[in-house]
Amino acid sequence: MAIRNIVKVGDPILAKKSRQVEKFDERLWQLLDDMRQTMEQANGVGLAAVQVGILRRAVVIDCGDGYIELINPEITSKEGSQFEEEGCLSLPGQSGVTCRPAVVRVKAQDRNGKWCVYKGEGLKARCFCHEIDHLDGILFTDRVVRKENG
Ligand code: NI
Repeated sequence: MAIRNIVKVGDPILAKKSRQVEKFDERLWQLLDDMRQTMEQANGVGLAAVQVGILRRAVVIDCGDGYIELINPEITSKEGSQFEEEGCLSLPGQSGVTCRPAVVRVKAQDRNGKWCVYKGEGLKARCFCHEIDHLDGILFTDRVVRKENG
C-alpha cells in the first residue's frame, strides 16, 4: 500500500466525470488499498478515486461504522433532507452547510464486481452523496447553502 497525493481544488481534474470501472483486477485492488490508506492518513471519512488523480468510479468510505468500497455506485433512493456542515480533503480549510437527503440507498459493486446495496443515514448519507458527486465532477461547494469559512 502507498499513500497517494490528494488532488486539491484548482486542479481541473476535479471537475471531470469519472468512467465506469470495468476490470476488477489487481490494479483496481491496489488503487483501493492506496485510497484507504490515503483517506485514513488524512483522517477523512471518504475519498473518491478522482481525488488521487484516477478518473474511475471508485470510492472508499469509513464513517466510523466500518470500511466500505463502492465501485460504480448509484443512488437508488433518497428520503428527507438534512442541513449539516461539510468539508472535503481536496478543499482544506473550507467548510459549508449543504442540503443532502436524510437517508439514501446506494447500489454498488464490491472489489470483485459483486453488486451490493447500502443504506446511509445522517453522516453516512452525506458521505455517499458527497463521494458520488465527486465521480460526476461536483464539489460540495457547488451545493453549499451557507458558507462557514474559507
Ligand atoms: Ni470530497
